[in-house]
Amino acid sequence: MSAGLFVSFEGIDGSGKSTQARMLHDHLRGEGRDAILTREPGGSPGAEEIRALVLNGATDRWSPETELLLFTAARRDHLERTVRPALAAGQIVICDRFADSTRMYQGLRGAGLRAQVDALHDLMIGQEPDLTILIDIDAGAGLARALARGGEGRFEAFGADMQARMRAGFLALAEEFADRFAVIDGAQAPEAVAADVRAAVAERLP
Ligand code: TYD
Repeated sequence: MSAGLFVSFEGIDGSGKSTQARMLHDHLRGEGRDAILTREPGGSPGAEEIRALVLNGATDRWSPETELLLFTAARRDHLERTVRPALAAGQIVICDRFADSTRMYQGLRGAGLRAQVDALHDLMIGQEPDLTILIDIDAGAGLARALARGGEGRFEAFGADMQARMRAGFLALAEEFADRFAVIDGAQAPEAVAADVRAAVAERLP
């Protein structure tokens, strides 16, 4: 049993979740709480190296199955080196994306892939966040934001249709794991979204 609190942020590309994760981190630190901000893929030196492999290059650089293995390898390293030690030390871990992103981005890419995602998760990860904040936004608005910003590119290249399936998929996940999900309207002004996020986290804090 860890003393800390594990909070993940999820959402489609351009949902604003990274901004919100940063704002929550700043807020908690401002309250004097011991919180760290981390991200996936990445969050440890080895996982950041895998991030560079998996996010750059042509859309067909990796098969969906290889990609799933790379994301899971990155997650395992991140868990071992960053997340679990922080939770054991009683810290609040704020993670920009976690396993729900794999359930969506890899799990939705073909028949039977979600089952593989879940099997590999059980085998190699076996941990869920205490709280997952889903920043929900219209697919078109998210894509426009993501394209305007640039970024690593490989995933944004999947297009509007995929974004829409992803949004619906995240909302379905929130129902599947209703006990740990909080769905927040990402179309609001950033400060209003941040207030909703703070309220959801406050319920879980000691
Ligand atoms: P991220 O840095 O969060 O990008 P953004 O800020 O644009 O949302 O994530 C990079 C990309 O990696 C994003 O398109 C989602 C994808 N991804 C997966 O496909 N599977 C995963 O397991 C994770 C964690 C991310």
